[in-house]
Amino acid sequence: MKYTSSTTAVPEANKVPRHVAIIMDGNGRWATKRFLPRVAGHVKGVETVRTVVEACVTRGVEYVTLFAFSSENWRRPEEEVSLLMRLFVTALEREVAKMHANNIRLKVVGDLTRFNDKLRQMIAQAERKTANNTGLTVTVCANYGGRWDIMQAIGKMVAAHPGATDFSEEQLAPHLAMAYAPEPDLFIRTGGEERISNFLLWQLAYTELYFTDTFWPDFSDEQFDKAIASYQHRERRFGRTGDQLAEKTN
Ligand code: IPE
Ligand code: IPE
Ligand code: MG
Repeated sequence: MKYTSSTTAVPEANKVPRHVAIIMDGNGRWATKRFLPRVAGHVKGVETVRTVVEACVTRGVEYVTLFAFSSENWRRPEEEVSLLMRLFVTALEREVAKMHANNIRLKVVGDLTRFNDKLRQMIAQAERKTANNTGLTVTVCANYGGRWDIMQAIGKMVAAHPGATDFSEEQLAPHLAMAYAPEPDLFIRTGGEERISNFLLWQLAYTELYFTDTFWPDFSDEQFDKAIASYQHRERRFGRTGDQLAEKTN
């Protein structure tokens, strides 16, 4: 599929974002605040995923990308990591058929080599089953890291151009894990932290950023609409001046 860079064309910001990328953060603190184990927050967080996916479908978002597990999250206690893996398996078991029935295409990106065979098979099966769906594309970033993505793309790019020493952005981009999607228009991070935490580093170059203190398990359609409304009031200039943009739309 053709690679489209949001830094070369000016999309209309007053529209619904085509691609929303979300760092779903704050599950642990949501649970701790309620004197519950952290995992209870992750369980509740899966419900929010369902809500947000439905909201994307009804609002006409084309791509939603969810950061579920970062390459750094292996540093967590073993118990929490294995619970997150089990939760991922159950979520796939429960949700894939429903997604398929709703014409949703599921993609899982990240370094999947560290996952066990069962999970990898389930992922491959879910992707295959939903590959030809034409509605919303849901991408789950699992064992994903922005630096990992850039490094693996460089490896593939170099292999594709033997002997070359000089490369362009256009040559790298098709090898990034999410080359099938346009760059995100809107980035949302819940849970109060204002950082990227090694999410889509390359692709977020010109994405509008939105941060909310709401913990992911409490994030709702209303809050999602608030983030979209905030996006719709931004002026995306991509290095140009405001006057240049006014000329273009007049
Ligand atoms: C995000 O919530 C989910 C994952 C990283 C898997 P956290 O688990 O990071 O929750 P907090 O940030 O500790 O509250
Ligand atoms: C980012 O959240 C990763 C995911 C939501 C999966 P973290 O909670 O791991 O990020 P830091 O550690 O606060 O930067
Ligand atoms: Mg966190």
